[in-house]
Amino acid sequence: MRILELASDLDTRALGARLAPLLRRGDVIALRGDLGAGKTTLARGLIQALLGRDEEVPSPTYTLVQVYEGPSFPLWHFDLYRLEEANDVHELGWDETQDGAALIEWPDRAGRHLPAHRLDVFLENSGEGRRARLEPQGEGWQERLDERLG
Ligand SMILES: Nc1ncnc2c1ncn2[C@@H]1O[C@H](COP(=O)(O)OP(=O)(O)OP(=O)(O)O)[C@@H](O)[C@H]1O
Ligand SMILES: [Mg+2]
Repeated sequence: MRILELASDLDTRALGARLAPLLRRGDVIALRGDLGAGKTTLARGLIQALLGRDEEVPSPTYTLVQVYEGPSFPLWHFDLYRLEEANDVHELGWDETQDGAALIEWPDRAGRHLPAHRLDVFLENSGEGRRARLEPQGEGWQERLDERLG
């Protein structure tokens, strides 16, 4: 577990960028927190760092999913807030995501389809900024965070 203070949205983006080099094919990052917590902001920082350019990263609020072609594998960005039922994830290409990596806003909407092995990132208000809590679920993530986040 690891807790970070994010004073502004730049810090939130920067945390996403720091997570980008850790990401491997098959990884799942669950972005948790209330409406407006900063989930998309973090995803944007991560996606832009992974792609190495200022790719436009729209919120998948209405599309529910956006796919990006990363240098080594595809990256899926989900926002499941508007998902009506958990089984509907199959219509979003959920089963192909193991060939790449997935960032998932409102992950609990996926119910039992949410992989048990993942990194949970909780975002909550902290003064004018946010506090991030990184909680590895399953093997491997803690070591990677310790190695790469210093
Ligand atoms: N560390 C921070 N401090 C202050 N504001 C922040 C911080 N991180 C992000 N924000 C701001 O919070 C607002 C909401 O961010 P964002 O859209 O990323 O939230 P979200 O969690 O994706 O919301 P939703 O649940 O609606 O998808 C944006 O204006 C963003 O710039
Ligand atoms: Mg969002």
